[in-house]
Amino acid sequence: MTGSVETLRWNGQSIEMIDQRLLPHQLQYRSYNSAQGVADAIRTMVIRGAPAIGVAAAYGIALEAKRLAGSSPDTFIKQMESGFNVLGTSRPTAVNLFWALNRMRKILDNIIQLPQETIAEMLIAQAHSILKEDIEANRRMGIFGASLLRDGMRVLTHCNAGALATAGHGTALGVFRSAVESGKRISVFADETRPVLQGARLTAWEMVQESIPVTLITDNMSGHLMSQGEIDAIIVGTDRVAANGDVANKIGTYMVAVLAKRHSIPFYVACPLSTIDLNIPDGKAIPIEERPANEVKGFGELHWAPEGVSIRNPAFDVTPAELVTALITEEGIIDNKILISGKLTEFVEKYRK
Ligand code: MRU
Repeated sequence: MTGSVETLRWNGQSIEMIDQRLLPHQLQYRSYNSAQGVADAIRTMVIRGAPAIGVAAAYGIALEAKRLAGSSPDTFIKQMESGFNVLGTSRPTAVNLFWALNRMRKILDNIIQLPQETIAEMLIAQAHSILKEDIEANRRMGIFGASLLRDGMRVLTHCNAGALATAGHGTALGVFRSAVESGKRISVFADETRPVLQGARLTAWEMVQESIPVTLITDNMSGHLMSQGEIDAIIVGTDRVAANGDVANKIGTYMVAVLAKRHSIPFYVACPLSTIDLNIPDGKAIPIEERPANEVKGFGELHWAPEGVSIRNPAFDVTPAELVTALITEEGIIDNKILISGKLTEFVEKYRK
């Protein structure tokens, strides 16, 4: 574990996750021991953020095998299949979920003839590896990303691509952490990120925990600050990058990228290779989750919109590759030239395990 936040932790029997709905007011872990439980945690956003969702899903599969060990071969196979289904339909946009499930499925297919207890142990070991690899990837990404930042830079981020959105260190916030570790003084602007407020509640909390200077703004303020020369760079995370380099991320990211272009401010996307979906040609094919209307009507119990108003709540948007200055990955920086010349596939295939 790196940094001060342990988003997911294994207690020897089950997986514990910080209930991110309660932050920043309460730091409380919930414990899960089945695929259904983990799927509910993902759907209701106890856990969120693309890499964290992937790690959680891997544990969901492993815990399902542990729960079922000792049942008849038929029941085991049938129930494991429904475990994959329930996890695979928990949230649609972050490709890390499907990446992790595919990885678990491949292992399971290879060891299906072994005793169920052994299968469970091997799947748990695989989930531990996915968690560990995620932290390592974030650390490497952090070092590459930090090389793009100069001392004194003021950097805007949108949503939360922090330790809370990963197994640790974070992607965009991992770059900030690595920059600070290398002795650079940087300061962060956090967009509030309506409707679920991941910026105000989670990014601001993570930065305050580690005394990294952070200033909170509402989502409609970043254009003004850019026009005033108060923002030097933007770094965001992503939920899925298509083969042509189009980037899906939290709703509002596209607006920020357009403004960045208008003001010639670099717009970087921190992106582990597990978030690149080579099966999807471009951003139009990325499924965009629509979330409940209540999130837009107000926040929590407090509703400020009138009853009867119609509501849209797309949770993500797509930023075209042409607006992305570079992707920061654990294997290096992919600049815009590579991205728009269609060489992303080549890069990913070279490094992906
Ligand atoms: O709806 P969320 O909170 O799961 O959305 C999270 C984001 O959009 C993050 O920016 C993205 O998953 C990258 S996290 C490293």
